[in-house]
Amino acid sequence: MRPTYALINLSNLKYNYLQIKKKVKNSKMMAVVKADAYGHGMIKCVEALQSLKNNRPDYYAVALFEEGKELRKSKIVDQPILTFSPFTSDELKEYYRFDLMPTITNADQIKQLSSLKLSKKLKVHVNIETGMGRLGISYKEAVEQIIRLSKIKNVVVDGIYTHFATSDEKDKTYANQQLNRFKKVIEELKFQKIEIGKIHCANSGAIIDMPESYFDMVRPGISLYGYYPSLETSESIKLKPVMSIISEVENVRKIKKGESVSYGRRYIAKNETNIFTVPIGYADGIPRNLTNKIECIISDKKFKQIGTITMDRLMFESGSKLLKTGTNIQLLGKSKSYEINAWDWSKLINAIPYEITCGISKRVPRKYK
Ligand SMILES: Cc1ncc(COP(=O)(O)O)c(C=O)c1O
Repeated sequence: MRPTYALINLSNLKYNYLQIKKKVKNSKMMAVVKADAYGHGMIKCVEALQSLKNNRPDYYAVALFEEGKELRKSKIVDQPILTFSPFTSDELKEYYRFDLMPTITNADQIKQLSSLKLSKKLKVHVNIETGMGRLGISYKEAVEQIIRLSKIKNVVVDGIYTHFATSDEKDKTYANQQLNRFKKVIEELKFQKIEIGKIHCANSGAIIDMPESYFDMVRPGISLYGYYPSLETSESIKLKPVMSIISEVENVRKIKKGESVSYGRRYIAKNETNIFTVPIGYADGIPRNLTNKIECIISDKKFKQIGTITMDRLMFESGSKLLKTGTNIQLLGKSKSYEINAWDWSKLINAIPYEITCGISKRVPRKYK
């Protein structure tokens, strides 16, 4: 069996979830588990959250219809599942079949729903575009459109939401502008006595630093998996990374001064040294741009990665230390004295932890503890 794997610490996932829940007090929790729970494995992560019994999430959210279907088919969730992406009319039957809630993201969908003459109740959430510049009905026409939607027979507006573009930035001016636009839409709909269900907008950045945005429900994603969404948020919630990347020393070799390692000869030994290979590469989701930049942890010591990262393996230098093949190594993980997490990699290549954990490919088995 392949010695490389991603170790998913489900206790840390539950810990993060409960920390967030404590912070948002009475607001409901919609756990965002799209993209295979940001690469951590949706079904196992949801199983862990479901084990929290009375504290388990009130809703789950996915991006794609197919993800929702997979989650419903697992039979571990009886709570509502929201899909963020717009639906297509041929998918609609399946939304009923798998008891999923679509998001209404534009006026055309409202027209479509009205022409379909639904014979059974369909719960939907409406996404209001307040400044993210992506999906949703513009806040300028939201009231009018939602009134139209709520008049369609068998359509039930179970929720209304918006999504922040900058809630994880220190300067909250723009996020507050979005929040105010959203609030105005809600006020007007309430004034007109339109049923809008649950109001939600807080992603991790807003959960951490904008308590005024909690409303009825919050939508944590990256914070569940143990990361702050940016380096600018406060650390008002303590989080523990959920994913470690583990492998082992595969092959050990002594090289002489002047000898090179890997493609492009981007490492040349200054002195005689020992190098070892580790069987994980860019096909597994280790960004090639991290070449010559990262370290690993072995028995509470750090070793430097050297030479171009290749598709299936990467190399490290151990100096005069001769390591045994089969020795366990952590690429992402924690020891007594050290921790290497996805932010450490992200900072080196202008990435974000979302990309790192989502990018760990299917070729890397997930093990759960
Ligand atoms: C609509 C929506 N809500 C919530 C989230 C969760 O955001 P985060 O992972 O920053 O908490 C996402 C993620 O991209 C999203 O698209």
